[in-house]
Amino acid sequence: MTKSGAFIVFEGGEGAGKSTQERLLAEHLAAAGLPVLRTREPGGTPAAERIRAILLDPASAGLDIRAEALLFAAARGDHVARVVRPALQVGTTVICDRYLDSSVAYQGYGRQMDPEQVRQLSLWATFDLLPDLTIILDVEPRVGLARVSDPDRLEAEPLEYHERVRHGFLTIAAADPARYLVIDGSKAPDEIAVQVFAGVDALLASR
Ligand code: TMP
Repeated sequence: MTKSGAFIVFEGGEGAGKSTQERLLAEHLAAAGLPVLRTREPGGTPAAERIRAILLDPASAGLDIRAEALLFAAARGDHVARVVRPALQVGTTVICDRYLDSSVAYQGYGRQMDPEQVRQLSLWATFDLLPDLTIILDVEPRVGLARVSDPDRLEAEPLEYHERVRHGFLTIAAADPARYLVIDGSKAPDEIAVQVFAGVDALLASR
């Protein structure tokens, strides 16, 4: 029987530098001979990418907040069922750009809905699939947003919204420190990568 792959998620506010770190981690793991899949949310399947387009389009301004939460969860359900779980089952390490905690932080804390209800919605959609490790790149929203050009519908939300999202991520991580690694995203990319590799190598050694 093949050992299940590790499920590693990157989270953080806008402009936190996730893509760079995901690429560096994928290279690090591939160099060690591990099969790796990089994917993202919302997205990762044809249908989920179409849902992503609806969610991020500035033309969807005013989208009802419960409809928004359901669409993120719908995209996640398809992605997990058709891409993430099958990859994990054949022993592939999955590196995912955002997952359920983005919904808890953006829809729960950001939109001021019950974070636990939002979390339960995603657990239902995914048959309870949780990451083995979630890496949160923490940056002040003012700093992260300054790195964003041509803002999408969510990036265009006011600063207070992004402050609530940041508070959400930090609250989630503080409640379960064993499954979260919070890294200062204002550091240099190579310094961040050292911390990411250490956290992931420790996870893989413990499995
Ligand atoms: P990205 O630009 O990092 O790919 O993320 C897309 C946007 O969608 C980003 O503003 C965060 C937001 N988002 C949510 O609000 N809820 C979610 O569940 C996910 C996955 C993303």
